[in-house]
Amino acid sequence: MPTYILGIESSCDDTSASVLCDGKVLSNLVANQEIHKSYGGVVPELASRAHQQNIIPVVNQAISKANIDKNQLNAIAYTRGPGLLGSLLVGSSFSKSLSIGLDIPLIEVNHMQAHLLAHFIDDCGSKPSFPFIGVTISGGHTQIVIVKDYFDMELIGETLDDAIGETFDKCGKMMGLNYPAGAIIDKNSKLGDPLKYKFTKPKVGGLNYSFSGLKTAFLRFVEKETKLNPNFIQQEINNLCASLQYTIVEILYEKVILSLKQTDISSVVFGGGVSCNSGIITKFKKNESVEDYVSYFPKFEYTTDNAAMIAMVGYLKFNNKDFSSIEKGAKARYLF
Ligand code: KG4
Ligand code: ZN
Repeated sequence: MPTYILGIESSCDDTSASVLCDGKVLSNLVANQEIHKSYGGVVPELASRAHQQNIIPVVNQAISKANIDKNQLNAIAYTRGPGLLGSLLVGSSFSKSLSIGLDIPLIEVNHMQAHLLAHFIDDCGSKPSFPFIGVTISGGHTQIVIVKDYFDMELIGETLDDAIGETFDKCGKMMGLNYPAGAIIDKNSKLGDPLKYKFTKPKVGGLNYSFSGLKTAFLRFVEKETKLNPNFIQQEINNLCASLQYTIVEILYEKVILSLKQTDISSVVFGGGVSCNSGIITKFKKNESVEDYVSYFPKFEYTTDNAAMIAMVGYLKFNNKDFSSIEKGAKARYLF
């Protein structure tokens, strides 16, 4: 008998639903919330309202695109956290109600675990073997994790201030780029000189990161140059993007390599919205033989927030009969 899992993701500003059959994606729909663009960042209250509007149509479409009847579903997996509380409440309340209505098990999923376990979705190519170093890089997180097994993860490093995606987005805003700016900076970088402008790297001990110093240095530099030449950003946009991206990649790379050396692990697995960045992929792929490791990057559609990764974790937990209870609440802060 095939196992059908419905995944529901609503931790930030994307409402997503997906149906998986035995780890194979039958549908994966994402409703992006355009409304945040004009504010230059996610507005939590607006995100919750948009989830309310989107969730029923997105779930309905995911089930109909999967070409199944809702009564064929075996379980519902939902994002319990971490994320914006109002957003999480919409997805968790809806999932609980649907599981009661259909009388099927409810499965809670940690969003950050899901970003890493997305690699086990059927169509993701070669699968990493345990143990590996997991690197979650998104708008809200920058974490280095030892992944000993599917659900045995240990956090060994994280950002002490801004997340890596937040740094892309905030520096993009300083250059007048739309939110979220990561993909635009990535695209512009390809036309610029990464060594044109130098920004100092932070001095943080161990495996932790800090990006707030870079963000401030970038702001000061752009303000200073714009005073001298009001068209500076416009004229230098590609070089600015390339130099910023180069610095961010260097900062990320150093600590990931250190974590591989310290743990004697030779596989590194990326997850999260920033893991489709071309500078990061090129740097890590290029140095595999030099530093003796193998790197894994998710398929593009599984990098940013999506419900297929939630359903995948749901499938793994379903096989372990690891079900959740209706009493459990959404968790804005949630370490696996
Ligand atoms: O995982 P995600 O969809 O949401 C969060 O959980 O935060 O990640 C969104 C982040 C945003 O900061 C966005 O700017 C960044 O991913 N991003 C990128 C690229 N594409 C998306 N950052 C750098 N380069 C990209 N190509
Ligand atoms: Zn995410």
